[in-house]
Amino acid sequence: MRPRGLHRLWLMGLLLAGPALAEDTRQLATLPLPAQETLRQEMLNNLIALNEILTLVATDKLKEAGAIAEQQLGLSAQGRHRDKPFEARPGPHMPPAMHALGMEGHRAASEFAKAAQAGERDRAQALLPNLTGACVNCHASWRIR
Ligand code: HEC
Repeated sequence: MRPRGLHRLWLMGLLLAGPALAEDTRQLATLPLPAQETLRQEMLNNLIALNEILTLVATDKLKEAGAIAEQQLGLSAQGRHRDKPFEARPGPHMPPAMHALGMEGHRAASEFAKAAQAGERDRAQALLPNLTGACVNCHASWRIR
């Protein structure tokens, strides 16, 4: 009886742990703690910026939406941690493939910003999903813990 009971317990454990383990297929990027903290703060700001951009587009304030996209998410937002200690800078600790996804996001935001600031409504709207797409692409592939 005892071995059978243990067997059951083991099976139950496997059933419980199995789905949870199978779900997270993201690769782990090992960043020093200070860099993790910087990344996290930047991510929270990203979400705020994205929300502002969507709100501005929805209320037809394209120029303002473009300005925020460029400053907060675009190529202009690159290198903002340059003056921090090395271990607090996320970029240099990212695997190249992850870093490339970040770059893609900056480019997508700048491309949107250009169209929005030029008042090209249709083009700006068509480019808008690329902004959220960049977040989703990286989040689907990478984790830091
Ligand atoms: C280059 C990769 C990358 C890109 C691009 C990216 N993120 Fe992230 N984001 C991450 C990683 C890695 C985490 C942490 C996941 C973890 O906890 O392991 C994260 C976490 C977050 C979090 C949670 C922060 C917390 O408090 O834990 C938010 C919110 C977020 N991202 C928003 C965004 C938004 C919005 C965008 C797009 C504008 C974006 N991210 C683009 C990699 C990225």
